[in-house]
Order: sequence, then structure tokens, then C-alpha cells
Amino acid sequence: MKPSNFVAFPKDFLWGAATSSFQIEGSPLADGAVESDWYRWTKTPGRIANGDTADVACDHYHRMKEDVALMKEMGLQAYRFSLSWSRIMPERGKVNQKAIEFYRSLMEELRKADITPLATLYHWETPVWAVGGWENRETVFAFEEYARVVFEELGRYSASWITINEPLVIACCGYMWGWFPPGKTDKAAYGQVVHHLNLAHGLAVRAFRQLNQKGEIGVAMALSTFDSISNKPEDVEHADRLDAIHNRAFLDPMTGKTYPQAFLDYAGKLEGPIEDDLKLIHQPVDFIGVNHYFRNTCKYKKGANIVDNENFVAPGTPLTDLEWEVRPESFTDILVYVWKNYGFKKIYVTENGMATRISKRSKDEFMQDDIRIHFIGSYLEAARKAIDQGVPLKGYFVWSLMDNFEWAQGFDPAFGLIAVDFKTQERSFKKSAYWYKKVMEENGFELSKLPLNPNYIRAAVPA
Ligand code: FCB
Repeated sequence: MKPSNFVAFPKDFLWGAATSSFQIEGSPLADGAVESDWYRWTKTPGRIANGDTADVACDHYHRMKEDVALMKEMGLQAYRFSLSWSRIMPERGKVNQKAIEFYRSLMEELRKADITPLATLYHWETPVWAVGGWENRETVFAFEEYARVVFEELGRYSASWITINEPLVIACCGYMWGWFPPGKTDKAAYGQVVHHLNLAHGLAVRAFRQLNQKGEIGVAMALSTFDSISNKPEDVEHADRLDAIHNRAFLDPMTGKTYPQAFLDYAGKLEGPIEDDLKLIHQPVDFIGVNHYFRNTCKYKKGANIVDNENFVAPGTPLTDLEWEVRPESFTDILVYVWKNYGFKKIYVTENGMATRISKRSKDEFMQDDIRIHFIGSYLEAARKAIDQGVPLKGYFVWSLMDNFEWAQGFDPAFGLIAVDFKTQERSFKKSAYWYKKVMEENGFELSKLPLNPNYIRAAVPA
């Protein structure tokens, strides 16, 4: 008998952890790979915190077997990773067998370890030969060709696929805010890129079906609610507009609807045969992947660019070291939102987790990471509440298996269950890794045993 405070998960619930190619592999130009936009971004002064690069990262490219052994030791049931387009296709139409071999041996190794692979086709590195990136419609068709190559070469090694990781973040951070390559701040480009990413997703799903691949395919979306700070009509409308631009601009066309008007009003006219494209974008998926980190609270500000949102957090609210709000209820909210509004039959949480900054925490606090156990435990309890409401949640992947290259923020924010010493490449389980091992073994955990008083930072009183 489990104690009454045991947060139990359904039978066959899939427990895993996630990474992505560029963030862990290192050796970005090895064995015939070509430069990607992210590779160049890391070489552009001022773009990455501390001037960090991903040239070595976790050196997973050379330590893959050792890493799979660690996954096994941790008791992972599933592993989410991504394939690098710029390794696999050094030019359009050309396949690099050495890269295929690397991913084949990774998938073989996982099979031997009895770990279910969840493979993502695209987690943000675009080969530089795809000129114009996602603004260029040709990139969409080049991506479809790449997807076909991957399914033909590697389809038999994985039963579960993700087309694109977080189309929102690619479009937002690359084309609206300018933090990621290509560094644009242009709303028309944002709109066009959203459309092209949607189309690329649709064409990859279509290719999967046309090639009669076994198994399942979906997409990993960065999803969070846009809550209005008050009941005032201008705040409520503002929150709804932001939801349209960030969530519905993807989910609506993927599920057979047209683009929300607020998105079109923001982006302006989209180029291309949109009506025909919408038919291609609407390819039923087998599951939706939810990546969730924090919610948004929206307050209208007269005269501001409509996507400018001062994300209000009440003084004293717990925050992670990246100042991301800790609010598990919002995790329940977004899971219920995506299920109720879109009726997906199967949902995975494809990313959830938290960062501690290496620079802000003592070695002891960093390794004995009660804060992460508290965070993941609280979010799992919130996920359980969504299941109780009927959400067909079938699996959960911690971001991340190990500390890695956190994009423009470099190596300081560390999301891993496993710590990586980036000087020696030594890996060590944090306390959270042992805790998560037990959760996976027992298919749940005792709520009353979550650490008390986790050391979150707190939102300050506004100046
Ligand atoms: C997500 C990304 C992932 C990682 C986490 C923290 O947006 O998909 O690669 O950077 O955030």
C-alpha cells in the first residue's frame, strides 16, 4: 500500500530526460558536418554570455556510450535527443553517412540499454547553406527533404519522432527579439517564419506518413498561459492577443483552423499560397509535446508595441536563478488548455525543469539540489492534477539530462540532473538524479517528502 500522500502516475507512464544536439555534442564541424547558424552565432562577439561556445559542450559526440550508460544507471525509461541537420546534410541533397552512423549507433546503444528513444528532427541548428533561414520558403522544402532522409536512414531505430522543437522560440527569439540567429527584430519576418515553421512541420508529418513509418510523430511546443493581470477589458484583451500571437498562431493551423486574426494583424500580410499551405499544415499528429517553464502575466500598456509585455510577478514570488516564476498551478493550466481547446488524444511533457546558476550557488548547494527536487516534484504534482481532470498525459521528460550549453546564456545556467565539469568532462549525479531514479522506479513519489524551504530567489518589490 502506498501512503495517502503518494503522487501516483498511470501505469505505462513514460519517464525520461531530454537534451539537444547542439547543446551537448560538441565537435560541431567533425566528420564532414558544416557550419550552422548557431555555430556562427557562437563565433559572433557579444552574442553568448561569457563568450562561451559549443565547440566542446559536453563532448557527447565522443562520450555517447558513456552517457547512455549513465542514463541506464539512472533508470531512464526514455531519452529525448535531437539530430543535427548540419551534420546529416552538409549540402542540399547530400547525405553524410558518418553523421548517420553516429545517430544510428546512439539509437542502437539506447536499444541495448532498453531506453525508448524520442528523436527530434530539428532543435534549432540550421545549416548555413539554407540561405535566408526560415524567412526563405526554400528552407521549408529543404527541411522536408532532410526529414525524408532521416526517416529513410533511421526510421527503423525510433518509434517516436518530434518534427520541430519550439517553433515559437525560433520565431520569437530569432526574428522578433533578436537574441538568437539571425538576430532580427521585425514583425513581418516573425509572421513569415511562424508560417514557414508550421509548413515545415506539416510537410515532415506528411513525409512520415507517406513513407509508412511505424510509430508516432508530433511536435514539441513551448507553451504557457497568458494570464491577464486584472479583469479590466484592456488587460484581458491584451492577454488574449498575446495568446493568439504566441500559442494559437501555431496550434490553430496545425489542427485545421485558420490563423487567428490578432496574429495576422500583428504580422501583416503573409507571403505564399496561404490557403493551400494551411491544408498541408493540417496533418493530424499522434501526440503534442508540451515544453513548459513559466507562465506570462499580461498588463496592457498604452502606446507600447503590442508584444511588449512587462511580465508582472508579485513581490516575494519564488523564482529560479533565471528569474523564471515558479508556479506549478500554471503547469496544470497549460496542460488543461491544450487538451480542452484542441482535443489532443496524447500529450507528453517533452521539457520541464529548472536552472541553478553555477556562479550563484555554492558547490554543495549545486550538487545537493533540493531546489530542483522541490521544483520537479511540485510540477509533477501539478501534472497529476491535470491527469485527474482528464488530460491524456502519457509521459514526462526532465530538461535536462545533464548540464549543457544554454544557448545565448552559455554554460552558467545549469539545468541538468547530472552535473558536468566542463574542464574535465567529469559527470556526477546531483541529488535530484537519485531522487528522479526513485520516482521512475516507483512511478510516483511521496509529496510529504519533498524538501521543505527550497532556496529559490524571490521577486523584488518594483523600484
Ligand atoms: C527550451 C529549449 C531547450 C532549453 C530549455 C531551457 O526553450 O528547447 O533547448 O534551452 O529551454
